[in-house]
Amino acid sequence: MGRDLKTSAILAALLLALPGLVRAAEPKPAAIQPWMNVKLSPDRRADLVISRMTLDEEIALLHGDFPVFMPKRPPGVQISAGYVKGLARLGIPDLTESDASLGVANSLRSHDDATPLPSGLSLAATWDAKTAYAGGAMIGKEARQKGFNVLLAGGVNLLRDPRNGRNFEYLGEDPLLAGTLAGAAIRGIQSNHIVSATKHFALNDQETGRTVLSAEIDEAAFRESDLLAFEIAIESGHPGSVMCAYNRVGGIYACENPFLLNNVLRTDWKYPGWVMSDWGAVHGVAAAKAGLDQESGQQLDKKVFFDAPLKDAVTSGEVSEAQIHKMTHRVLRSMFAAGLFEHPLQVGGLDTTADSRVAARAGEQGIVLLRNQGRVLPLAASAGHILVIGGHADIGVISGGGSSQVIPTGSVKFPPPKGAPSWGGGQMYFPSAPLAAIKARAPNADVTFNDGADPAAAAVLAARADVVVVFATQWSSEGMDISLTLPDGQDGLISAVAAANPKTIVVLETAAPVLMPWREKTAGILEAWFPGARGGESIARVLFGEANPQGRLPVTFPASEAQLAHPVLPGADQAQVETMGAGAVTPKPFDVRYTEGSDVGYRGFAKSGDKPLYPFGFGLTYSSFRYSGLKVVGGKTLRASFTVTNTGARSAIDTPQFYLISGPSRTQERLIGWSKVDLKPGESRSVTVTAPRRMLANWDAKSHGWRLSGGTYKVAVGSDASALTLKGAAQVTATTLQP
Ligand code: BGC
Repeated sequence: MGRDLKTSAILAALLLALPGLVRAAEPKPAAIQPWMNVKLSPDRRADLVISRMTLDEEIALLHGDFPVFMPKRPPGVQISAGYVKGLARLGIPDLTESDASLGVANSLRSHDDATPLPSGLSLAATWDAKTAYAGGAMIGKEARQKGFNVLLAGGVNLLRDPRNGRNFEYLGEDPLLAGTLAGAAIRGIQSNHIVSATKHFALNDQETGRTVLSAEIDEAAFRESDLLAFEIAIESGHPGSVMCAYNRVGGIYACENPFLLNNVLRTDWKYPGWVMSDWGAVHGVAAAKAGLDQESGQQLDKKVFFDAPLKDAVTSGEVSEAQIHKMTHRVLRSMFAAGLFEHPLQVGGLDTTADSRVAARAGEQGIVLLRNQGRVLPLAASAGHILVIGGHADIGVISGGGSSQVIPTGSVKFPPPKGAPSWGGGQMYFPSAPLAAIKARAPNADVTFNDGADPAAAAVLAARADVVVVFATQWSSEGMDISLTLPDGQDGLISAVAAANPKTIVVLETAAPVLMPWREKTAGILEAWFPGARGGESIARVLFGEANPQGRLPVTFPASEAQLAHPVLPGADQAQVETMGAGAVTPKPFDVRYTEGSDVGYRGFAKSGDKPLYPFGFGLTYSSFRYSGLKVVGGKTLRASFTVTNTGARSAIDTPQFYLISGPSRTQERLIGWSKVDLKPGESRSVTVTAPRRMLANWDAKSHGWRLSGGTYKVAVGSDASALTLKGAAQVTATTLQP
């Protein structure tokens, strides 16, 4: 794969980086600058500023730099993802932009510290909006403290293919779960008076060929899946900006796609904020008419289209001046809405020790217990000889690469796995070693480590241990897709070790689902994803039962590639996946036909009847639960009430899930609600879950709205998408919901 411009930039930046200062705009009192009157609406305030701006000044707000490539980087402009110069004359602050959803990315700046959250899939596995909000609030605070007022966060591309290399930045396969958590994370970020930009709008659901592929999907299916995740995230999170994607949708680039930007986002969803492009995703001035407001990372496009060419288009009448006002308005109104004018950035005060507690809590909640034969877990502090193997567990926990990479001080980098591309920066391990955390919890046990490089030798040691904990990692990065098979022969290692010692527990630190050919030989399996700044601690706390395993899979783990909607990844025959940059081989454009429509993930499994390795929603605890007494009330929507009882011997947290099975006009399994309950042994609690009406409706392309057919709706409550223990039904009245 060719190295792209951004990779070269990362390398250059590592040499050039200097700590930056933030230039604060100078807000004046409302008497002098009437737009500083906070009693006015953001829209009114934006209009007031625009009335004082020249055309050139407006256009200057509509394109921004990729600072590494700025010919002369002004003092105070940090090396980061983006910079849009403000207008000091009118008190308009600069937009200082940093990636991304998991923390303040800092691979471009040396000697810089930041706190990484666990991966998006880990956050999604918490099924907890409060955790997503807390994570967002923490990274938003760090963004401010580090001089950024725009966080390119809020990734909510639906997980259509578990091999998408960026799944670790997103929130899984279900639109309600992903959209709800993304919305909460965005609210958390923006609670710091900064802007969050949800992305990548839309259907950038694989990295292979991302800049050339055209995603093809039926409109109704699109509205009920990928678009729905964005719709929920946007209406609940109110992000100041939406980032359009690299790929094409229906043959048209997402950043110049009038259907996506003008029809869906602006007209149907009434989205008032601004659309920024992905870096290098603009192909011409025509994008302005199609709904793009701002060209980001302009040095990565063939030309800076939204500078002189945009002005020429205004002069020639191709783009109206009114259009420029609208575009500027959207940028400014979001800046006012987020409070950028009256809350200028104040750099400093970073406390990564305190912040990493937020990451630790989230990482722990996202761990999913997949298997626990003979109650091998939790481990006893006096477990005799505990042998820890592999996964660099003596060093730290793995993380994902690419623009979202956050690097806390003390991280250690390993080269990419065999066969994986180098862009993405290599495998970064955060300094939170599971081995040390395990030792700390078992002071009287004999805890030893083997790196797993020689499976036969590891098996010999395993045979002598009382219990074995094998760590397996799967790296992933932006700009690449991955396989469902663990890299570097780790399946062989696990098989050899598990054959030697039946008390083998596998801890997975994976980007996304993997196959587990060794599953039946093992006693326990934990999915810890990329567990974040304090991942080693989080894993050890769950292993020893200091923390309850409570994560639930936000994605189906397939039993084989043959079960996927696209057994062969579209475009997999292409020479490489990136197209930007000198020397890169440009893949031929190709279509990705999402013929599975909105039957993504568990919905597809429900339809085909295939049995996955682990279903969506699955996760064990150290206790057991019983559901009883389901009552379903219909009417305008559906409300389920039922009782959850902890039937085991330990306090534990359960996540009962509410699914639609079929409506009068269609059969499609859909998650329509869930709850989380913390119960002591023997304790019961009555739970009520109400389905959002839109989740019961189907998109009706003819009437251009959500149609809820009147009649009988069958529903179920269960502990995952295929363990539906309580069934019920109720009548819902017909209605049409506006988009
Ligand atoms: C990524 C975006 C990111 C941007 C800026 C692009 O390559 O797709 O997610 O925000 O770069 O770094």
